Amino acid sequence: VIDIRKLYAKSGMFTYDPGFTSTASCESALTYIDGDEGVLLHRGYPIGELAEHSSFMEVSYLLLNGELPSQDELSKFEYTISRHTMLHEQLSTFYRGFRRDAHPMAVMCGVVGALSAFYHDSTDISDPHQRMIASHRLIAKMPTIAAMAYKYSVGQPFLYPKNDLSYAGNFLRMTFGVPAEEYEVNPAVERAMDRIFILHADHEQNASTSTVRLAGSSGANPFACIAAGIACLWGPAHGGANEAALNMLREIGTPDKIPEYIARAKDKSDPFRLMGFGHRVYKNYDPRATVMQKTVREVFEALNVSDPLFETALRLEEIALNDEYFIEKKLFPNVDFYSGVILSAIGFPTTMFTVLFALARTVGWVAQWNEMISDPEQKIGRPRQLYTGPTERSYVPIGQR
Ligand code: ACO
Repeated sequence: VIDIRKLYAKSGMFTYDPGFTSTASCESALTYIDGDEGVLLHRGYPIGELAEHSSFMEVSYLLLNGELPSQDELSKFEYTISRHTMLHEQLSTFYRGFRRDAHPMAVMCGVVGALSAFYHDSTDISDPHQRMIASHRLIAKMPTIAAMAYKYSVGQPFLYPKNDLSYAGNFLRMTFGVPAEEYEVNPAVERAMDRIFILHADHEQNASTSTVRLAGSSGANPFACIAAGIACLWGPAHGGANEAALNMLREIGTPDKIPEYIARAKDKSDPFRLMGFGHRVYKNYDPRATVMQKTVREVFEALNVSDPLFETALRLEEIALNDEYFIEKKLFPNVDFYSGVILSAIGFPTTMFTVLFALARTVGWVAQWNEMISDPEQKIGRPRQLYTGPTERSYVPIGQR
């Protein structure tokens, strides 16, 4: 009888790293994170500077092409993206196959995956030009697909893209506009939306990006790979945390209830966690949360609204950051902690929060996918395992068991 465990000894060096806490799966020149210092750079540029001075289209160009664009390059890129915003008309019938109360992330997985059945002229992944067309299509069509998922859920007619608007402005109009009326984009909300997209654009080898890379490593259809990323992002430990964080803040309600929830988060017999807190890589303040917190104030001022949940969130942060448990475990607010408060003020239901994350992260996914396919050393991703089942044994006929 062969002892399968002994076989591992024959295969030389073998590491076991559940959750990939200390294993790099690839080389990448896109994004750098220093988790101890709370630093996030895209192609060398700090996220704070990009959020303050850049636009999502500019950051998308940067991630895809390696350098910031000149004015001419940016105009051409924006024009190219705007040319791809329409969806094949037949795709709109897909939505009708879903229940109206379906979670929009379920609709996103289905519709984005279905793109693979339509755009056959951008699926030869050995051709860099076709890869770029697939990337542009995905970046351009995500706002249309996401807005249609929202429209379908509220029973309103779909709106076609209006390509003289900005990327964020077009998305806001397709989501909140109605066909019979002019929709005026609020410039402050448009700017906030664009900034939220920048903050979510890429974050190196997180679970959904690793999923896109793994799916893509087999040579799979690019649209199907992005659908796989969307599925992974949906989980509450990842992109689904923005929805979960606002639901948690609503449950907590007023600041006087915070100590009860802090106690629950520390209690190991209770599965409750503070949503929007903690990160695998950041052991310091997530720099995206800093920008997000500032953006909440700007949106409130522009819309002349306030939300008591923001006060609850600020107080919760203050209490947690002074608590021994959170200090010792280095748990800080992450990008998802404040994003829900802004998105809710803009008018999005919580179920759309992760959809917005997917929309913005699409640029990171396609840039990472392109980088991987262009790498001459690229191999199919094939993690190993430590087998813990029985050693080899003989089949026993059913009557003798
Ligand atoms: N509340 C309470 N305790 C926490 C939290 C939290 N939010 N996050 C981590 N901890 C504790 C764990 O219980 C664990 O304690 P232990 O060492 O006593 O067992 C310790 O901190 C380490 O946590 P792990 O789960 O092992 O850390 P990991 O790196 O695997 O997880 C994660 C990171 C998933 C983000 C985690 O912090 C979490 O669940 N946070 C809440 C969900 C969330 O906000 N997700 C969004 C992440 S950012 C993004 O995807 C955009």
